[in-house]
Amino acid sequence: MTSQLFAPLRIGVLELPNRITVAPMCQYSAVDGSMSDWHIMHLGSLAISGASMLVMEATGVTPEGRITPHCPGLYSDANEIAMKRVADFLRGISPVVLGVQLAHAGRKASSHRPWQGHGPLTGEEGAWQTLAPSALPLAAGWPAPHEMSRSDMAALTQSFVRAAQRAARIGLDFVELHSTHGYLLSEFLSPLSNRRGDEYGGSLENRMRYPLEVFRAIRDAFPAERFVGAKISGSDFVDGGFSPDDAVVYARALKAEGCAYVTVSGGGVVLDAKIPLGPGYQVPFAERVRKETGIVTGAVGLITDPQQAEAIIANGQADFVSLARAMLFNPRWPQHAAVVLGAETAWPPQYERASPKLWRPGRTLGRPDRSRE
Ligand SMILES: Cc1cc2nc3c(=O)[nH]c(=O)nc-3n(C[C@H](O)[C@H](O)[C@H](O)COP(=O)(O)O)c2cc1C
Repeated sequence: MTSQLFAPLRIGVLELPNRITVAPMCQYSAVDGSMSDWHIMHLGSLAISGASMLVMEATGVTPEGRITPHCPGLYSDANEIAMKRVADFLRGISPVVLGVQLAHAGRKASSHRPWQGHGPLTGEEGAWQTLAPSALPLAAGWPAPHEMSRSDMAALTQSFVRAAQRAARIGLDFVELHSTHGYLLSEFLSPLSNRRGDEYGGSLENRMRYPLEVFRAIRDAFPAERFVGAKISGSDFVDGGFSPDDAVVYARALKAEGCAYVTVSGGGVVLDAKIPLGPGYQVPFAERVRKETGIVTGAVGLITDPQQAEAIIANGQADFVSLARAMLFNPRWPQHAAVVLGAETAWPPQYERASPKLWRPGRTLGRPDRSRE
């Protein structure tokens, strides 16, 4: 039977040759917000994996919006030049559809890299004042963020716009708005972190207002023929938090604003959520969003096995899968999945001889005999 995972998918005006996408993954390896040689290596290896779409990691639209001082940004000319260098390199080696996740880390900014303890920076380490919808710390031991004023919000919207314009100049195919995992826009969306008394807090309609304003501003600033998507939460995994019902409403509102796709993740708003980790643990959220809104929907979260990914697409639970850890573990995952599922995917010509098609019994070693293809 023909693989559904390897069937093409249209997003905006672009046709992806398959439904395997690389999730954004923070590398904590930028210098003053500028991507480094590490990104060339890391993204280069993922770009030649056979995945059809690659989302570059959460990128701060302001210096204070970075999770750590080592996260990339898109707020300066130097950042733009550095990301363009990476993007140009990737264009030279791969046809992958390429975009960046635009982000503000909210009350989770000003932190350590995970391998340096994850917690908040101290004053001596260069901590900065964080921003959030309400002045509620993430957890005990975390500093209180500054509650954003309306002028803070308006200024930040303009920072998102400028970053989207820089992404357009770099030549990226799309931008993705980060609105999950407890970062700023997710903090607006969640009743656990948003206790505002104005029209940006309270009802779901009010909590969605700022994320939707930012989305609209980005959509207007990014070239119309390219696409803008969003990563959203399916759940906070806490009673009384953002829920799967809320996710459906938010996705529907994004779609009405011209959002080309959503990837449905979750968690991260509080540190003590009980997340039932297991294979495909967030897929049911994607399935509901897809079925109830009709927006192009990605599933993410412990999708590690080709047959599992195939079933998610074939059963109509998602339009594409988004893989993070599985791609770090095995950057040839899409090519291996194609072999398992009897499908085709792209190999760089330099690696073509690794394709079992070219070394199955009956082939001569060395230069492949193309006359029998
Ligand atoms: C190293 C690493 C960095 C991550 N950085 C980001 C990020 O920048 N933006 C984001 O939305 N999610 C980020 N995530 C979460 C993943 O994109 C994904 O949603 C999550 O890991 C679940 O997918 P997985 O089970 O395939 O890893 C990161 C995950 C990992 C492992």
